[in-house]
Parts: sequence; structure tokens; C-alpha cells
Amino acid sequence: NGYITLDSGYKNTGSCESAITFLDGEKGILRYRGYAIEELAEKADFLEVAYLLIFGELPTKEQSDKFHNDIKKESAVDEDVKKILDAFPKAAHPMGVISSLTSALTAFNPSSVNVNSEEDMYKSVVRILGKMPVLVAWTMRKKQGLPLDYGDNSLGYVENLLKMMFSRPNSCYVQNPVLVNAMDKLLILHADHEQNCSTSTVRIVGSSHAGLFASISAGISALWGPLHGGANQAVLEMLKAIEADGGDTKKYMAKAKDKSDPFRLMGFGHRVYKNFDPRARIIKKAADQVLHDLGIEDPILEIAKGLEKEALEDQYFVDRKLYPNVDFYSGIIYRAMEIPVEMFTVMFAIGRLPGWIAQWREMRLRKEPIGRPRQLYIGATKRSFVPIEER
Ligand code: CMC
Repeated sequence: NGYITLDSGYKNTGSCESAITFLDGEKGILRYRGYAIEELAEKADFLEVAYLLIFGELPTKEQSDKFHNDIKKESAVDEDVKKILDAFPKAAHPMGVISSLTSALTAFNPSSVNVNSEEDMYKSVVRILGKMPVLVAWTMRKKQGLPLDYGDNSLGYVENLLKMMFSRPNSCYVQNPVLVNAMDKLLILHADHEQNCSTSTVRIVGSSHAGLFASISAGISALWGPLHGGANQAVLEMLKAIEADGGDTKKYMAKAKDKSDPFRLMGFGHRVYKNFDPRARIIKKAADQVLHDLGIEDPILEIAKGLEKEALEDQYFVDRKLYPNVDFYSGIIYRAMEIPVEMFTVMFAIGRLPGWIAQWREMRLRKEPIGRPRQLYIGATKRSFVPIEER
């Protein structure tokens, strides 16, 4: 096996060629199809960014309208999906529910596995973009014991998602532009991040020619883990624990540095960013703005800022180039929006959806071979079978 190089955790393995997202971890640069993330977060809306990621160019007005209309036509979810949703216990983690419901889309659309043309791909793309917000909102409402909302297709994509999540029976739902803008920005900032754990999962599952829905369901499962997207939930739980413990950030800093303690400072560190995460900078500013606009004073934001300040001056964190990542401040915005903590990673998933789709589509269009890593075998050499009575 001399020709195989071990690279556990794929720390330095380029697994594909891609024209979607550019990331320079040393300089803190992130661009989608050449456009700086800072500019997109400021000027674009989520569906425009989704189109850009998937098809490579910003849409014209006509392309944008057609894309949105095609998505709207696919926003109905089969009534039988509700039976699956009903079968989950209320305590089920929404990531498990969403992953299962996404996988079930293949069962409801079996022909979606056959991808023989760009048109076949397009059908799956608009189908999942149409149905995912419904599944997300329904999952949250089911957990809260609320009747399901079927949305309003006269609304924008993000507006409709928020309506389906937050409308209440017997009350008129009024859009809050602060929430719409904040959600748009958060979804854009999460929309792609080249070959991270969940995206690599989507590509490798898709490389066996499993369909888009099965591939994305696998990506959702990968995202769930606390070292990846699950960190946003873990950050908020950590900040709440610090608050409940009297706000002693130094105690938690010490725990994070103690190698015999499994505790890590959640929302800190990144495999690729070694100076700063550009998404975290934008989200920190947005958290300040959203709390100000909503008139909320959240002591947890102060704890987060305190932790960040201490970490940036601490030799342990400086030596290891550990900086706040995308998940450090996002939960503070979700909390201000009254999104339950267990839904945070689901919000990440809906943001990442265009990226997963774009990467899956690119892989299929480039006719990439099945992903099949090798290993360095370290087990027993050849030995003979021993009958059970002689062992
Ligand atoms: N708190 C304390 N120490 C840390 C942390 C942290 N958050 N992150 C890394 N370290 C230490 C680690 O113990 C190691 O120390 P040493 O060299 O003494 O053994 C060193 O820094 C390098 O860390 P690593 O685990 O080898 O780095 P990695 O590239 O394998 O892992 C990471 C990257 C993001 C999984 C890790 O930094 C981490 O666990 N962070 C906390 C979880 C988190 O916030 N995840 C979200 C990542 S960004 C969004 C996303 O991917 O979805």
C-alpha cells in the first residue's frame, strides 16, 4: 500500500475541482462564484444567491421570477408526509426529523433518482427548494403543538418561511422587516462553504448516483454534529450555562484549555480559517443591529463578547489561531427572533441547501466518478480460522 498517503480528517486533500466557492483561510476571504460574501450579505437576497450558487451567474429579473415561480409550484407537500411527522415523538431533535423527511421525499418522488438530463436535475432542485421551508416550519410547529401553516405563495421565499414558522391561529401575521432582513443575511452567509463535512457528504453520497434528496438528507445528518453545524445550538447552550453559573467566563476559558477536560469553547476554531472567519464578523455586527432594532437587551450577547475578547488575548487561542466562527454569534440572532434553540442547526441547513444543491449538480454535470477513499490497513496479517470449541 506504499502509494497511499494517510490524511485522516482530509486536512490537506483536495477531493474535487470546483468553480462554486473560493475560500482563503489565511486571509479570511470567502466568495461565491467570485462575489465577496460581504457584498452579497449586504445587497442580495437569499434566492438570488441560491440561483448564483447553483447556476453560476446572478439571475436577470426574468430568470429570477421564473426560478421563484417554479419553486412555488413545488411548495405543496404530500398530505401523507404529515403522517410521518406525526409519528415522531415531540422530544425528537428537529435535525433527525428533517433528515428523515428529506429522505422521504425520494419515496414520494421515486423518479427523482433518475438524473439523465439537466432538466431532470432542475426538477429535483426546485422541488427540494420548494418543499424544504414547509418541512422546516412544520417540524418546528409540530414540536410547539401548533397547527401546520401552508404558507402564502404571494410572499417572497424568506418571508414565506417566516410566516410558516411564526403565524399563530386566530391572529393576523404581520411581517417584521428586521426579521426578514436578518434571516436573509444569515441564510446567505451559510449558503456554501466549499468542501466542508456535510458538503463532502452530499458529494460522496451523490457520487454513487443516489438522488438529490437522499444526498441532502445525508448532508443534514453530517451537519447535525456539534463540531459542524450543531455548534450553533451548542454555543447558545454554553452561553446560557455560563450565565446560569454566574457569568464567570474565566472559569470556562480555563476548562477549554484544560486537555483533561472534554469541554471546548463552542463557536471557536476552524479547520480552514486561521485569522478570522469573515462570516463571524458580519454576524457579530448583525447581532448588535438586530437586538438594537428589536429593542432587546440580551445578557448573553455581553457574555459572548466577553469570551471573545478574552480568547483573542489568550496565548492558548492565539497560538492555535482559534477565532470565533460562523456559529458563535448566529444563535444570538436566532434567539432574538424567538427560534427555539433546537431549531438553530435546522436554520443552518436551510441556508446551506443551495450550496449542497450546487455542489451535487456540479459533481453530476462533471460526471465525477464514485467517491471511494482508500485506507492504510493496520490489522492482523493472514491467519487461519479456529473452530469455536478450540478458541
Ligand atoms: N476550544 C478549545 N480548544 C480548541 C478549540 C476550541 N473550540 N478548537 C480547537 N482547539 C484546539 C485543539 O484542542 C487542538 O489543540 P492541541 O494542538 O493542543 O491538541 C488545536 O486547537 C487544533 O484543533 P483541532 O481540533 O486539531 O482542529 P480541527 O481543524 O481538527 O477542528 C474544529 C476544527 C472546528 C472542529 C474545532 O476548532 C472545534 O471543535 N471547534 C468547536 C466546535 C465549533 O465551533 N464548530 C463549528 C465550526 S465552523 C462551522 C461549521 O463547520 O459548521
